[in-house]
Amino acid sequence: MWEQVQETVSYIKAITNFTPEYGVILGSGLGSFTDDMDIEFTIPYNEIPNFPVSTVLGHKGALVFGTMGNKKIVAMQGRFHFYEGYSMKEVTFPVRVMKYLGISKLVVSNASGGVNPDYNMGEIIIIKDHINFTPEHPLNGPNDERFGPRFVNMSEPYSRKMIVKAKELAKELNIVVKDGIYFGLQGPSFETLAEYKMVKILGADCVGMSTVSEVIVARHMDLETFGISVITDIGDEDNIDDISHDEVLEAAKKAEPNVRRLIKELILKY
Ligand code: HPA
Repeated sequence: MWEQVQETVSYIKAITNFTPEYGVILGSGLGSFTDDMDIEFTIPYNEIPNFPVSTVLGHKGALVFGTMGNKKIVAMQGRFHFYEGYSMKEVTFPVRVMKYLGISKLVVSNASGGVNPDYNMGEIIIIKDHINFTPEHPLNGPNDERFGPRFVNMSEPYSRKMIVKAKELAKELNIVVKDGIYFGLQGPSFETLAEYKMVKILGADCVGMSTVSEVIVARHMDLETFGISVITDIGDEDNIDDISHDEVLEAAKKAEPNVRRLIKELILKY
């Protein structure tokens, strides 16, 4: 794994000596974030050695390098999911590559189903913690100490300082945000009503099919991490709503301008 990561980093560094400070993973319907960047160059995933190739509609596949103000960013336009058939090591491989391209901070975004009764469709949730119920751990197997320790401290998976800053900025920008705990499941089926209920009983506020493994791997390498989730559907026992991927994308699209503004300000001001 170490050698593959270094090989991929060398490939990218041979194209450019761009050294990003921020990595950003753009989730469902949030890909237009790169419109706010002064793009230096873009590399499609299928040209990058050792990278998996994204298969889900609505997820683009490219690493986008550019600046925002004086901040240097590498953005993942599209991510990899366990339900596509990749192992969690493959899903999180790009996070390792971004680390050795130079990032010290990672911003992740996703769409999720809300189980907290205070949540509404299209709302922006700042992820303050997560519960990992995905079936495979990205750090299982022998540990390579060059990446990080065997037993990763997960007491602050999402940077408290970044959360405070983001809430402050949201207020200034008049963007309504709530915070919450994200529950990671493997998908690809959406949850049954009984499963949404379980998520709620177990103490989470929203549920989705990504993010937790990426954040674990980011913390393994001591990256400071921030996560944002858009509530694209409500998992409510009393509300039997037919949710589809199209509806998720549409709801995420509606929230997109505010998510973009908030992440942009955070990157500029943090
Ligand atoms: N469940 C899981 N993943 C999701 C959901 C959901 O309700 N909405 C968007 N991604």
